[in-house]
Amino acid sequence: MGKREGEVVCVTGGSGYIGSCLLHLLLHHGYTVHATVKNLEDEKETNHLRAMEGAESRLRLFQMDLLQYDSIVAAVTGAAGVFHLASPCIVDKVHDPERELLDPAIKGTINVLTAAKELGVRRVVVTSSISAIIPSPNWPADVVKNEDCWTDEEYCKRKGIWYPLSKTLAEKAAWEFAEEKGLDIVVVNPGTVMGPVIPPSLNASMQMLLRLLQGCTEVYEDFFMGSVHVKDVALAHLLVYENTSATGRHLCVEAISHYGDFAAKVAELYPEYNVPKLPKDTQPGLRRSKDASKKLIDLGMEFISMEQIIKDGVESLRSKGYIS
Ligand SMILES: NC(=O)c1ccc[n+]([C@@H]2O[C@H](COP(=O)([O-])OP(=O)(O)OC[C@H]3O[C@@H](n4cnc5c(N)ncnc54)[C@H](OP(=O)(O)O)[C@@H]3O)[C@@H](O)[C@H]2O)c1
Repeated sequence: MGKREGEVVCVTGGSGYIGSCLLHLLLHHGYTVHATVKNLEDEKETNHLRAMEGAESRLRLFQMDLLQYDSIVAAVTGAAGVFHLASPCIVDKVHDPERELLDPAIKGTINVLTAAKELGVRRVVVTSSISAIIPSPNWPADVVKNEDCWTDEEYCKRKGIWYPLSKTLAEKAAWEFAEEKGLDIVVVNPGTVMGPVIPPSLNASMQMLLRLLQGCTEVYEDFFMGSVHVKDVALAHLLVYENTSATGRHLCVEAISHYGDFAAKVAELYPEYNVPKLPKDTQPGLRRSKDASKKLIDLGMEFISMEQIIKDGVESLRSKGYIS
């Protein structure tokens, strides 16, 4: 991995759950970071970033709206690399999918890539998701899902599940743009991200853990494919940025597993909570796999175990007062 101390990079969605963790890692590695937040006046979006070691001299915050091109240009100007994380993350029902999810995800991605191309950025890391890999009901049942697998758009439309559709269309648009305009992009597809929380509010995936501890029996049939530690997701972003040999999509999960496996482990580790007993196979037809994220493992990743992901997540929820 080539050290790039002093290099300027831009992180969109820097105030979010994964964004904060990536920012912390980048500052630790000596980068200067332009991070975008939706509202610069809101201390809940900025205080946890300004408090990081190195932030005083190497962090600049920019107010950015994914649909306002000029606000993106301001943040990307001067950056050698861009990490594009900003995208609405809503797995619950939405009223206006176009406005709430699809437009910011798809048009936002194109705006970020256009700015990167115009401004001569060397490489863009696009944060996609396993939600651009599943739900994929037509994938052969005897083959483990991998980076060749894409979410079934028609299935999403039929079932009205808009988040996977937003991630799938955004990633496809990114690849199309990169090919047409000749921009170097690389993609990370994280599973359900959990672990310690830096921001003051809880994102969608950590809310899943909280709900499980509170007894919720939802199994996220169309959303879950495995868990991954937030620090591993940040590290995966850095690895694919710094390794010029990294190309294409990168599935980023500790293992391919069912939500039932995850819930059973939470119940075993924390019997004091009201964790429901879920069926063993909560993701019908999904083949389990221990080393599914081969591309990242080959780049040097050693994934943190599901047990540690759960322990770090629960401890963080406790320390922030979400559970006692
Ligand atoms: N968490 C997971 O399990 C998971 C798994 C796979 C992929 N991902 C992807 O990882 C990325 C980060 O997710 P996260 O879990 O860290 O969620 P998060 O905490 O909700 O972060 C999303 C970030 O995007 C920003 N954003 C949303 N809409 C925006 C808009 N219209 N203009 C500007 N900024 C906007 C948010 O700003 P505000 O905070 O101001 O709203 C926030 O900083 C997303 O692309 C998500 O799809 C997440």
